[in-house]
Amino acid sequence: MRSHYCGLLNAESVDSLSNETITLCGWVNRRRDLGGLIFVQVRDRTGIIQVVFEPDNADLFKQSEMLRNEFVVKVEGSLRARPKDMINKDMITGEIEIVATNLTVLNKSEPPVVPVDGHQNVSEELRLKYRYLDLRRPEMQQQLLIRAKVTKALRDHLDEDGFTDIETPFLTKATPEGARDYLVPSRVHPNNFYALPQSPQLFKQLLMMSGFDRYYQIVRCFRDEDLRADRQPEFTQLDIEASFIDEDTIMSATETMICKVFKSVLGEELPAPFLRMPHSEAMERYGSDKPDLRMDMELITVDDLVAEVDFKVFNAPANDENGRVALLCVKGKATEISRKKIDEYTAYVSRYGARGLAWIKVNDREAGLEGLQSPIVKFLTAEAAEAILKRCGAESGDILFFAADKSNVVADALGNLRLKLGKDFELMSNEWCPLWVVDFPMFEEIEGGLHALHHPFTAPQVNTIEELQSNPSKVLSKAYDMVLNGTELGGGSIRIHDQAMQSAVFELLGIAEEEQQSKFGFLLEALKYGCPPHGGIAFGLDRLVMLMTGSSSIRDVIAFPKTTNASCLLTDAPAKVSEAQLNELKLQLEQVGGEDSE
Ligand code: AMO
Ligand code: AMP
Repeated sequence: MRSHYCGLLNAESVDSLSNETITLCGWVNRRRDLGGLIFVQVRDRTGIIQVVFEPDNADLFKQSEMLRNEFVVKVEGSLRARPKDMINKDMITGEIEIVATNLTVLNKSEPPVVPVDGHQNVSEELRLKYRYLDLRRPEMQQQLLIRAKVTKALRDHLDEDGFTDIETPFLTKATPEGARDYLVPSRVHPNNFYALPQSPQLFKQLLMMSGFDRYYQIVRCFRDEDLRADRQPEFTQLDIEASFIDEDTIMSATETMICKVFKSVLGEELPAPFLRMPHSEAMERYGSDKPDLRMDMELITVDDLVAEVDFKVFNAPANDENGRVALLCVKGKATEISRKKIDEYTAYVSRYGARGLAWIKVNDREAGLEGLQSPIVKFLTAEAAEAILKRCGAESGDILFFAADKSNVVADALGNLRLKLGKDFELMSNEWCPLWVVDFPMFEEIEGGLHALHHPFTAPQVNTIEELQSNPSKVLSKAYDMVLNGTELGGGSIRIHDQAMQSAVFELLGIAEEEQQSKFGFLLEALKYGCPPHGGIAFGLDRLVMLMTGSSSIRDVIAFPKTTNASCLLTDAPAKVSEAQLNELKLQLEQVGGEDSE
């Protein structure tokens, strides 16, 4: 139907196409009726061009008067340069226009519920319900185009590097990655369920056992977990596994790959080699296992300086080996941060378990205790106050925020407050700040039990089962996360390839022999048949594209995403199913809140 795309025509095309009829197909982006002339912007996926309807062709002119936004049209005409005073510098095609000679309305449209042409504020709910309209917006198109480019660049790189793309099943058994499973009932095996994969973790390990050596897959994963801006119930991983490698090889290789993609898609250089930071240091300095290094502010520990002060809130955690007192020094913001704002920050940190947020405003650094404004200064000696100010390099005009509690609460509270302050006062630089977080603990203790910090297939940094068992909570793992601007882009590890070690880890995680067999028997068995040492990583593709496009949510780089309560507003999924389907599956529903299955 069409001879040219709207956005690909430009001033240089004018001479070469001067004798040709141009046929464009697309949507009416906007129509302006200037009485004597009608200007219609026609839009396709490449861009927008102005079409002029002149009054000397009366029929055509009349026809063009009926055009409305989002009508689908075929326009024939000739290309010409716009007069100098009509050039629109804000449009890529602003130097040219089409003079229409023929118009076919291929389809009409009701006034679009989600405006496509402007930047009006439309609720995300409406955008998701009418996603097909929302996706017509040029910025959404651009984001999905970048996504496709990223995927291609990743594939090209991995194909060239000798990786094989292999598909793994969706209807499978549980693959634990810390979330709940999405279950699918089996009709032919009543009362039995498949689990949708949280990741292809076990299959990629099995592929290493089969000798494929280097595997990758761009694959959908399913996790029933609490959703937020960077989490979807189904999301896409770039999943990678290789044999006969160590942590260093896989980190360097994937770092090179990510740098290459940034260069080829955005033309941007990432600062390589990436910094490598032990997990304990990340928690200590940034209160996070995914530190955002675009801002200098760090958590500063003052345990030793407040251990003797006459203030129980401080001296108790300072003297407790699991406790910590730390502060953030916000440079030059003392006057901008009002009491009301402090109350807001106190409420904010309480979400992370902090029982308070002590503060000191340094009004006059030279004036000793007199120069400090604070509800806690009365508890401090002049020496303690001086030592604290010195340690954090405080100057007049700064404000200090303190958290005193168990170390993990302090890290969580101040780590999050740091990010909030960074946002509120625009303290983040515009750089790309990637890093690797390494040396994670194998386990975390939750309510007396051990949980895998990564997943249960991650190898420990010790060689023997005895070493692992002697003090499991102190053992580090061979896991690594790639972090970019405070977002965890990817995570992976060297795996356990020894059956006895795998069983020992399961046991420490409280998975008894019988459960080990029923859940992971196939893996334990496979480990007996010549499993090579192997390891890998998975990147969150949606998150990568979100960062590359500067989007604030992964929903903006997924064509048909779900809301934070896991529903699709476009199709209304999840939905009820018929009685007949339930009967076939031998399922009975429980009444919930007066209605079934909602
Ligand atoms: P992990 O659970 O860290 O590791 O997942 C890898 C990466 O996937 C992305 N991601 C998500 N993205 C969007 N929505 C979600 N709900 C979501 N969950 C995770 C993150 C994360 O870094 N099998 C291991 C990898 C391995 O060990 O090789 C795994 O899945 O960017
Ligand atoms: P109080 O003596 O309880 O009035 O507390 C004095 C100050 O210490 C207030 O500013 C509280 O917000 C703060 N505070 C109380 N508990 C903590 C805590 N665990 N960590 C940091 N500050 C706290």
